[in-house]
Formats: sequence, C-alpha cells, structure tokens
Amino acid sequence: MALKIGRGAHAPGFLVMDVIAAANARQAALAPSDPRVIRMEVGQPGTGAPAGALAAAAAALRGADPLGYTEALGRPSLRARIAAHYRDWYGAAVPTRRIAVTMGASAAFPLAFLAAFDPGDRVALAAPFYPPYVNILTALGLQPVIVEAGPATRYQPTVALLDRLDPAPDGLIVASPCNPAGTMLAPDELAAIAAWCDARGVRLISDEIYHGLHYGRPIATAAALSPHAVVINSFSKYFSMTGWRVGWMALPEDLMRPVECLAQNLFISAPHICQVAAEAAFDCTAELDANVARYRRVRDHLLKALPCAGFPDIAAPDGAFYIYADVGARTNDSVAFCARMMTEAGVAASPGVDFDRTRGTRTLRFSYCGPEADMIEAADRLTRFR
Ligand SMILES: Cc1ncc(COP(=O)(O)O)c(C=O)c1O
Repeated sequence: MALKIGRGAHAPGFLVMDVIAAANARQAALAPSDPRVIRMEVGQPGTGAPAGALAAAAAALRGADPLGYTEALGRPSLRARIAAHYRDWYGAAVPTRRIAVTMGASAAFPLAFLAAFDPGDRVALAAPFYPPYVNILTALGLQPVIVEAGPATRYQPTVALLDRLDPAPDGLIVASPCNPAGTMLAPDELAAIAAWCDARGVRLISDEIYHGLHYGRPIATAAALSPHAVVINSFSKYFSMTGWRVGWMALPEDLMRPVECLAQNLFISAPHICQVAAEAAFDCTAELDANVARYRRVRDHLLKALPCAGFPDIAAPDGAFYIYADVGARTNDSVAFCARMMTEAGVAASPGVDFDRTRGTRTLRFSYCGPEADMIEAADRLTRFR
C-alpha cells in the first residue's frame, strides 16, 4: 500500500548540488595525468575559517565548558558582537535582543517564513533567485510570486516592477549582492523598496549574506531602513565558515518572540562550539579582507577575459563571487551546454535553470571563489572552448 507523502517533500532539489556531484564523479574518473576539473559551480569560499576562529574553537575544545545547548537565540556574547557589527559596519543601532543566531542563513529562512506568514500567503522575489527561497516557500505552503528581472535592472527588483503586482504580496525577499548575478541594490534603491513595503504592509526579508564581499559600491542594511524588516546574514561567505553552520537574523520587535519559540522547537540552538568560533571571526578582518582582495582581482580578470572567451553578455557583478552569463547566442539548453563545457573544457559551472525556471535555459553561473590560479586557468580554457 502506498502511503501519503507530504506536499513539502515535492519541493525540487537544489540542482547546483547535482552539478557538484557530477563534477566530483568526472574528476574521479580522470586519469592522474589528465587536467583537473576546475570548479566554478560551487558557491563556497575555498578558504577555511580564519585562524582566530580556529584557535577559539581549539581552546573551547580543551576548556571546561561542556559545550551543551546554548539559548535558542544564541550565546549572549555572540549576539552582542553581532549587534556591535551593525554599529561598526553600517552605523546602525540594532539592539542585542533583536539578534537571533541560527544554523546558517538556511535555517533562518524557515524561521522567518513561519514567523511572518501563513500557508497560502504570497511572497514576491525577483528571478533569477537563490533556489532554496522558492523551494522552502513552496514546502511551507506559501506561494512564491516571481518578478522577472533582467539586465535592464541589473537582475534586481525595482519599485516600478513591484508596483505591477496586484494585489500587493504579503512579503518580499531581496538579496544584495544577489546570487546568482552578484549585482546589488544601491542604498537608495533598497531604501525605496523598504518604504514601498512599509507603505503596503509587506514584510521585507533582506538576505544580506554576501555583505562584506563587494567591490567598491556602498552597501546598506535593511535593518537601518525599516523597523519591520527581517535581515538574514551568515558566517558562510565573508567570514569563510560555510561548514560551521552559523548565521543570524536581525529581527523586528514583533517577530522576536515568535522566532525564539520556533527556534526552540525546531533547532534548540546553533552548534555551541561554532558560535564560539564565529564570535572570534569578527577579530580576523585582516585575513578576511585579504580574501576579498583576491576575489576582486579574480573578478576583474574574468570581466576582461570572459567576453573574449565568448561570454559577452554579463551584468558586471558588484559583489559576491558569481558572474551570471547569458549564453543564449550559443545554446538554448544550459544544462547540456554546462555538461559539454565540463567534458570538453574541464570547467564546471551551474546551468541557469536552477535560478530561473523560464529563462535559465539560456544562462549559466560562474562562481569564482576557487583558488586564483584555477580561476585564471579556467578563463584560458574557456577561450579555447567553442
Ligand atoms: C543568497 C544565499 N542565501 C543563503 C545561502 C545559505 O547560506 P548558509 O550557508 O548560511 O546556510 C546561500 C548559500 O549559498 C546563498 O547564496
């Protein structure tokens, strides 16, 4: 007898993870003398946690603290350090009590969505988008409302695009810098979107996970722009601690207790030792900023090299470590194109279908967070790939 399988289980997977598995399999099948597969599909820093974070974790392991659960909203000292970060980076006053530590930004999404919305509510976001937004919304019975953004708005939503939504949605997710395009909302654009949301009672959710990884343009946090916004961030990108699974939210007053109750029930707490390490990462700026300088060099190189290699249609990324390329002149099947690029050029990249279900057959995402020499070699290989 076939038993029922819940609606949430029908959420599609995250295709990038399948591309990673395919690149691993391809690499494993190569002879030792074959050129390696260069990895431009993964969205995680090639660097590990900064030295100060590792030292703090090692000291915690040797110490007397049994490292049990922490409070659901996180270690008080880490929450205070995150609150100070808002003052230091943005000049914004975010009180410690409004900070919730989470298991990466990934755990913050269901906490925020469950706290802010009811099943059936409509939550808008621009395409192309980070796939789990849509998949988590759908799994929770919420309705994603896709706003198609393109090169004209640098793949970001605008007030003009949002004005077309009738009725206004219950929520809006923005990400700046965004994944997959790396493009940003200027501070005044984010402020205009926050005001648009506040005027209509739309809950703004701002994914700020790529803050710190931006190359010259100013950043703003939604925490300073709206008292109702939910801000999501993480130690996975600028802080280079992906596998430690620590992130955070800066919450509006009305969602603090709901999120705390949900976190108590769903996760109890983020891993204790990882919270200790994350707190120490705030004092590792020299090491972390050296990573940012490397990303910037690679980005500058790729922005010159990729157009010569047959990828001229790219929106120059302001941040993160991604370049989103329109390859419509070369293919209308980005999955097959990426597979051929991996076999023939030995360069793995992510097909756009993960990020944009309608137009993604003609786009792909290069991630340039790998070793600098690999990224330079990838550009050379792509120049020879036709
Ligand atoms: C835009 C965006 N948000 C959230 C995440 C999830 O990050 P975390 O490792 O903190 O769960 C990612 C991961 O790549 C991302 O690109």
